[in-house]
Amino acid sequence: KKGSYDHFMQKEIHEQPHSLTMTMRGRLKNSGVILGGLKEHLKTIRRSRRVIFIGCGTSYNAALAARPLVEELTGIPVTMEVASDLLDRQGPIYREDTAVFVSQSGETADTLLALEYALENGALCVGVTNTVGSTLSRRTHCGIHINAGCEIGVASTKAYTSQIVVMAMMALAIGSDQLSTQTRRESIITGLSSLPSHASEVLKLDSDMKELASSLIDSESLLVFGRGYNYATALEGALKVKEVALMHSEGMLAGEMKHGPLALVDENLPIIVIATRDACFSKQKSVIQQLLSRKGRLIVMCSTGDISAVVPSGSCRTIQVPEVADCLQPVINIIPLQLLAYHLTVLRGFDVDQPRNLAKSVTTQ
Ligand code: M6R
Repeated sequence: KKGSYDHFMQKEIHEQPHSLTMTMRGRLKNSGVILGGLKEHLKTIRRSRRVIFIGCGTSYNAALAARPLVEELTGIPVTMEVASDLLDRQGPIYREDTAVFVSQSGETADTLLALEYALENGALCVGVTNTVGSTLSRRTHCGIHINAGCEIGVASTKAYTSQIVVMAMMALAIGSDQLSTQTRRESIITGLSSLPSHASEVLKLDSDMKELASSLIDSESLLVFGRGYNYATALEGALKVKEVALMHSEGMLAGEMKHGPLALVDENLPIIVIATRDACFSKQKSVIQQLLSRKGRLIVMCSTGDISAVVPSGSCRTIQVPEVADCLQPVINIIPLQLLAYHLTVLRGFDVDQPRNLAKSVTTQ
């Protein structure tokens, strides 16, 4: 079943041009997106007081990546909830809320308990899952299947990128009644249709990421700094590294750098800074300058051909990725980090598909 690949995680990373195609198949039209599972509920969602995204681990991160676009295209405030934390706090949920539950397996205990809690409180409950017939898809009022195909590796990879795409399509569908954003929506739809080919392009970084991994093999820790659309990329890249490569790694909001993390910076600690083009680009450039002036050991992720605009020549390693629509950039940016985590794991001699102490689906609290 692994075909020519050594591990399922590797296969699933490389499958992303195809899984993304399957996620969008039949759903993208020039005029908008068609999401059969949501159609009947769009009016209710548009009237809701807020959207709450609820999930765990990678699924939470996918929702975080889509959050800015949902806010932009719908004008509805979006709050984020880690399922266990919502339950711990018994946070308020109202009838006027739309609660979106994101789960690859559709069987994660905390997410399902949060779903029961939201149902009891009268919210409209929407499911985003990869698993047809799962408890999540049966218990929600409506939803969208991500159609990424079966994911076997414990580390979620292709489900992550497909989840982001589904939530971007959801934002387009909810916001489709707004004339003022029509041009923006059209350009995002064009961007979505070119994502599979950009994913193929970025997968060519495989051997570069293997080389980068070999330079990090003995590091004790790896930080990833992102912001805006790519805060989620930082969290998700770090989650992949700690989960499979068993290396301490933290994703950090670059805007928080001076509020603590800066104290960690020295010549040894590797730091990945995501600086692809979006509204936060100039702020990220200044973060890079500040880290370089403290002799930080940087690896900068930027758009292809953008190195000279981002870093003084030869001052650090770079990961160059194809530029796509700003809100879709997280789909592309995570792929080299998935490859990096994969190669780090193999080089460090750990089990890629079955990391220590972890299960694919966390069905107990
Ligand atoms: O099946 P789910 O998406 O609900 O799973 C949630 C998390 O347990 C999961 O994403 C976990 O964080 C992954 N193993 C990360 O790769």
